[in-house]
Amino acid sequence: MVDQQAFVTCATNDTYALGALVLAHSLRNVQTTRKLAIIVTPQVTNKIRSLLGNVFDLIKVVDVLDSKDEANLTLLTRPELGVTFTKFHCWRLTQFQKCVFLDADILVVQNCDELFDREELSAVPDVGWPDCFNSGVFVFQPNEETYSAIIKFAIQNGSFDGGDQGVLNMFFKDWRTADISRHLSFIYNMNANATYSYQPAYKQFGKDVKIVHFLGHIKPWMQMYNSETGRVQPDSPHSFEHLQLWWDLFMRQVQPNLTEECSGIAGELSKLQIGPIAPGSSAFIQSSEARRYAWERGQVDYMGADAFSNIEKKLQESIEGSKK
Ligand code: UDP
Ligand code: GLC
Ligand code: MN
Repeated sequence: MVDQQAFVTCATNDTYALGALVLAHSLRNVQTTRKLAIIVTPQVTNKIRSLLGNVFDLIKVVDVLDSKDEANLTLLTRPELGVTFTKFHCWRLTQFQKCVFLDADILVVQNCDELFDREELSAVPDVGWPDCFNSGVFVFQPNEETYSAIIKFAIQNGSFDGGDQGVLNMFFKDWRTADISRHLSFIYNMNANATYSYQPAYKQFGKDVKIVHFLGHIKPWMQMYNSETGRVQPDSPHSFEHLQLWWDLFMRQVQPNLTEECSGIAGELSKLQIGPIAPGSSAFIQSSEARRYAWERGQVDYMGADAFSNIEKKLQESIEGSKK
């Protein structure tokens, strides 16, 4: 029985796969008795797949599903989330009787195997619109017919947010009113900024939290990290406490196995070295994608990566590259 139940996540590239690795280790650390499965798309490199193979029981390769719904994704201000339709493939994991889907930007901090007592579709209200559920955590039952019905529904109706959450909330429309047992407690999908947005409640209930979700543009892997002190930079929409937990786990159980064969942020973070730094180099490590986000938010590192001399060098390299 327990053998036929699994936690499931999804990654369409090495960067999200890095998040999935942290998630899987966090589930093992809290001694889950359930299987771990991941849906990946062909873009995920062989190197990362081999690391996923060390911690997941099942890796299922599927084609990318993309809503390509630019209008609604623009409303959500997240153009990258069309590919979250790929999550729908989780209904095809029919080797399992019941599953709990978890986004790859999630950290499990306490055992939550009791979620398997719930029925499809159970989920936590979304903090932005609590009449909708957040699709970062949901209990479901794999079934080919449900999969086909969701795809058909998505083709016919599209998604009001351009991503999977819009489709699933319309498909499982009665979640809002039908059965309160399908409403999960916030402790199973706490938005990592709730510690600031409702501090007194966090003080009262925070110790019960089991699943932390780093929802939004900025992910833990984009955060500045000081490799000398082992501390994450506190400047973030997410709570420092949970970011630090994520990084502690990442540095201990995931980062040592990354290599430059990994692509995206996973490749860049493979170069991180903990401990004393060489004279003249910075202790702060941040991937280039993360730097771009920081730059766009107006956080310019004038003395470091964004110094004029570095930008000039980068421009020169690009010009040289395009001449070839
Ligand atoms: N995802 C992915 N590749 C992407 C974007 C998203 O694999 O390029 C998957 C991944 O599992 C991720 C989930 O879809 O956790 C939802 O995206 P995200 O967590 O970024 O959305 P948010 O929770 O911030 O709204
Ligand atoms: C959300 C959810 C995420 C989902 C996305 C797109 O905010 O957190 O899981 O993939 O919206 O619908
Ligand atoms: Mn998420």
